[in-house]
Amino acid sequence: MESDEAVQSTNDDASECKRSAVRLGYWQDRFIGVLARATERKPPEINRGYFARTQGVTLFVKQFLKVVGEKCQIINIGAGFDTLYWRLKDMDLKVENFTEIDFPSVTARKCYAIKRSKVLLDGLGITDGEVKFSSTELHGGNYHLVGADVRNLADVAQKLRESEVDLRLPTLFLAECVLVYIECAQVTRLLAWIVEHFSNALFVNYEQVNMCDRFGNIMLENLRARGCPLSGVESCKSLDTQKKRFLNANWDGAKAWTMVDVYAAIDPSERHRVEKLEMLDEQELLTQLFQHYCISVAWKGPVLQGGIRLSEYDDNE
Ligand SMILES: C[S@@+](CC[C@H](N)C(=O)[O-])C[C@H]1O[C@@H](n2cnc3c(N)ncnc32)[C@H](O)[C@@H]1O
Repeated sequence: MESDEAVQSTNDDASECKRSAVRLGYWQDRFIGVLARATERKPPEINRGYFARTQGVTLFVKQFLKVVGEKCQIINIGAGFDTLYWRLKDMDLKVENFTEIDFPSVTARKCYAIKRSKVLLDGLGITDGEVKFSSTELHGGNYHLVGADVRNLADVAQKLRESEVDLRLPTLFLAECVLVYIECAQVTRLLAWIVEHFSNALFVNYEQVNMCDRFGNIMLENLRARGCPLSGVESCKSLDTQKKRFLNANWDGAKAWTMVDVYAAIDPSERHRVEKLEMLDEQELLTQLFQHYCISVAWKGPVLQGGIRLSEYDDNE
């Protein structure tokens, strides 16, 4: 479908923006340059936004790993060209299984890039096993890259089995700018399916919020003009609709913060470092962007009942 192709192309934007910010020193990622095309330098507000997004997601990933330990899994839904698997290895953070899912046309390109890249292949850390490749899928060590439309739950279940995902292990599901492209009813089915099958799970979701005001409407119009259907936008009206999406699908609890709060929770020395990298033309524009993106988290099962926090001062219930 044409609209699916437009959604898939959002991965090129995301990975090119990440590459632009990394090149300017916002954070370290020696892998994104292998996967993403080099493009012109992005505006400072965009670089700063991607910095907040990457650091915010990493903050929750690290918290999950601290709570559950190494015997856990990460499943990245709509992973695109994300490099978290390799970056975790660079940080010496270990997981039992790391599975990435995206449309086969996207995973095919990622497979091809991995096959041709020594740095990405070395990152799989395979010493005594082999890497199994097809044109759209790759299984090597604890890394699995599989092609599926996540609206098709039978396919998702099959691909997770092939990736040796263990339903009993604490599992972090990650979705960065993915659910907004999927019909709300289908997202609810996916979220309910996860809760039904995994005994301990955390979901970390990054995407648009506060889409009902003027700035939100302009953002939506820009995306629609590119042919992207924003079928899931109903859940992006407010922090409350973001949380309700999980609670309606039977998750035990949920929290959500705009990127204004997430940015403020990033280590101050890191924030001060990146604030010196580029002059911001428009502080107001950055604030508006931060008000219109959020991270929502939801948990299920006894292991994560202690709750997940944005910071030690967090009293968001
Ligand atoms: C904006 S990109 C984000 C990529 C990556 N998460 C990141 O943050 O760099 C959205 C991704 O979601 C994927 N996606 C959207 N709907 C999907 C679906 N129904 N099934 C599988 N992948 C999907 C797209 O193909 C695309 O790679």
